[in-house]
Amino acid sequence: MTFSLTQLIEARQANQYSLHTRFISPQMARVQEIIGFDKLYTRGEGAYLWDADGNRYLDLLAGFSVFNLGRGHPVIKKAMQEALMLERPNLVKMDCPLLAGLLAEELVKRMPPGLEAIFFANSGADAVDTALKFARYATKRPRIVFLDHAFHGLTLGTLSINGGEAFRKGFEPLIPGAAMVAMNDLDALEKELRKGDVAAFIVEPIQGKGVYIPEDDYLPEEQRLCRKYGTLFICDEVQVGMGRAGKFLCCEHWNLEPDMVTLAKSLGGGYVPVSAVIMRREINNKVFGHLKRAQVHSTTFGQNEMGMAAGLATLYVMDEEKIIERSATVGAKLLARLAALKDHHEMIADVRGKGLIIGIEFRPPSALGLRAAWTAIEAAEKGLFTQLVVMSLMRDHRMLTQVGGPGVNIVKLLPPLIIGDEEVDAIVKAFDTIMHETKNLKGRVWATSGELIKQAMSS
Ligand SMILES: Cc1ncc(COP(=O)(O)O)c(C=O)c1O
Repeated sequence: MTFSLTQLIEARQANQYSLHTRFISPQMARVQEIIGFDKLYTRGEGAYLWDADGNRYLDLLAGFSVFNLGRGHPVIKKAMQEALMLERPNLVKMDCPLLAGLLAEELVKRMPPGLEAIFFANSGADAVDTALKFARYATKRPRIVFLDHAFHGLTLGTLSINGGEAFRKGFEPLIPGAAMVAMNDLDALEKELRKGDVAAFIVEPIQGKGVYIPEDDYLPEEQRLCRKYGTLFICDEVQVGMGRAGKFLCCEHWNLEPDMVTLAKSLGGGYVPVSAVIMRREINNKVFGHLKRAQVHSTTFGQNEMGMAAGLATLYVMDEEKIIERSATVGAKLLARLAALKDHHEMIADVRGKGLIIGIEFRPPSALGLRAAWTAIEAAEKGLFTQLVVMSLMRDHRMLTQVGGPGVNIVKLLPPLIIGDEEVDAIVKAFDTIMHETKNLKGRVWATSGELIKQAMSS
């Protein structure tokens, strides 16, 4: 008997959800079923997914920003095939792999001044954990400051700097000394930094959960305060870096010069989990400051050939296809057209974003009947109105989206950066249609609210 992945998939595709129910997460399988997301996707290409019946779906999540270049990009696919066929010695461990050196060189070229040493890891949380460890070691200080609503991953270290109660609850005690401050509150930040024991202040230049963008001078002032008190300034670019926000790094919008930057997600081209911490040379020198310390921090799969090849091919494609410019221009167009919908639909409270990370926030309607419907669904669970919008986008427009964080009425759009006018038109039309339909209590959008309320109350 030979192993055939194709045959295995053909034979078992129909068991996809039941396998998860039995072995992985019955809750996740059930959620997909309740909200009508329990599709059998069989193919992904570019910005689209196809199900077993041949229906096409526009993917506005891009694997949470993994597929910035779309799925199955031919150049990256070829690089993956080449990396396999070359049979180069992977993970020798007691050597210095060429591809890691080349990828490090390419990344450094794209960094703000001063960031020229790299550590490669596997996931976003892995990179952030690394940055926290390095900050503690380099400064000899114990504490970390982070922002309310922040999301930096879900390992124990990164959970300790998570700004969302829903994620943290029940997992305490977390690492000691982490302090949360509110975005745009410089006094609160300075109060913490002044204590003189803060190793690092970490920030997503645009927050992924909720797409919250700081006031114009907040980030530069944060950086200034960090310098003043000897605290390292870390920009977590895991989600908003790699061109997502219309610049290679989102922090370029404010001309920031962080001490450390974290990247992950689409660095692996949609094929391999790869992440990186890019830092000032002195930080790296302190951590690995002696020959005996050469392996004081490492991870088994860091610098692996497939990951490094994927990273190199990704950066090549970004340049060749002018992905950053595209993200900026297409994003600006989509943002402006979605924002224009506010004039016609009072329930759209705000449309914000940069490049192709866009948040659409909803608010209660003024008409009495509609307001009562909103109140009922929000009383069952905060953010449930937006779930109706997300479900409508899937059911009626075949678009994959998600509520943009726990308990918020925000849809977050993270499309692949390769979308164009066709997709922009389709997205705007879908939101316009759905918002028209929300005005009719007997219409399609509200039709599933009873079931959602029942499920929320029973869980
Ligand atoms: C800003 C940010 N940092 C870190 C992470 C964690 O990345 P991972 O899920 O790869 O561990 C995420 C994940 O969404 C993120 O958005």
